[in-house]
Amino acid sequence: MSTADTRQGLHVENLEVAYNGVPAVRGISFEVNAGEAIGLIGPNGAGKSSTLLAIMGATPRSGLVTVHGNDISGLAPEKVVRTGLALVPEGRHVFTELSVMDNLRLGAVARRDKSSYKEALEHVLDLFPILRDFGHRHAGLLSGGQQQQLAIGRALMSDPDILMLDEPSLGLSPTAVDTVFEALDVVRKAGKAVLIVEQRAEFTIAFSDRTYVLHDGVITLSLKPEDAENVEVLTEAYFG
Ligand SMILES: Nc1ncnc2c1ncn2[C@@H]1O[C@H](COP(=O)(O)OP(=O)(O)OP(=O)(O)O)[C@@H](O)[C@H]1O
Ligand SMILES: [Mg+2]
Repeated sequence: MSTADTRQGLHVENLEVAYNGVPAVRGISFEVNAGEAIGLIGPNGAGKSSTLLAIMGATPRSGLVTVHGNDISGLAPEKVVRTGLALVPEGRHVFTELSVMDNLRLGAVARRDKSSYKEALEHVLDLFPILRDFGHRHAGLLSGGQQQQLAIGRALMSDPDILMLDEPSLGLSPTAVDTVFEALDVVRKAGKAVLIVEQRAEFTIAFSDRTYVLHDGVITLSLKPEDAENVEVLTEAYFG
């Protein structure tokens, strides 16, 4: 891709992942533009997590991945983070022995603009007030929903342009899911690009500006919010 490419956001072209020669992602292409929330849904083993890990450079892959038009395909994860991509992994992985504030501080290590750290912290604490209230608590003492808020807050502390989340609703109460997705809506409206991997099809289709359906490593459908009420389309999305 030429340096004259001025597209904003994340562009993935012909991404492939294989484990020991067995394909998990078979040449998918999609884009997530600034200010959009994009869903990626599909059954167990469809290749959703592999797609996110491949974009982050955390698993061997081929194909082209660009951020704001810049090719990041060959970069290692620590370099990828500095291009403005952040991943909230499945299962959250907060540092349970550290305080909430220390978890957030660690998220800021990859910040490109170190000077605005305090502003970023205030922004995250405004987005998730519970983190302000429990700032000095060990993260391991938080509920699952609170830990998910912390994991997202930590990712936001690196000041990403593109936020990716692997099954953020997994194991959360309905109230906690609402809190998380209300925050993701704020993040999208603030102009960031959001890529959400989920198993909950209807919910994700309704929330996202566009939802890609992944089956056995291939994108089989691209859905719009109104498709969340279309039973035929949903059946296709589930059973492909
Ligand atoms: N580290 C690995 N080594 C070998 N095979 C793997 C590895 N990670 C994933 N796979 C395989 O790759 C395929 C895609 O897995 P992936 O975890 O990307 O799917 P997923 O859509 O995220 O599934 P889930 O909904 O269960 O999280 C599956 O067949 C899985 O068994
Ligand atoms: Mg997964």
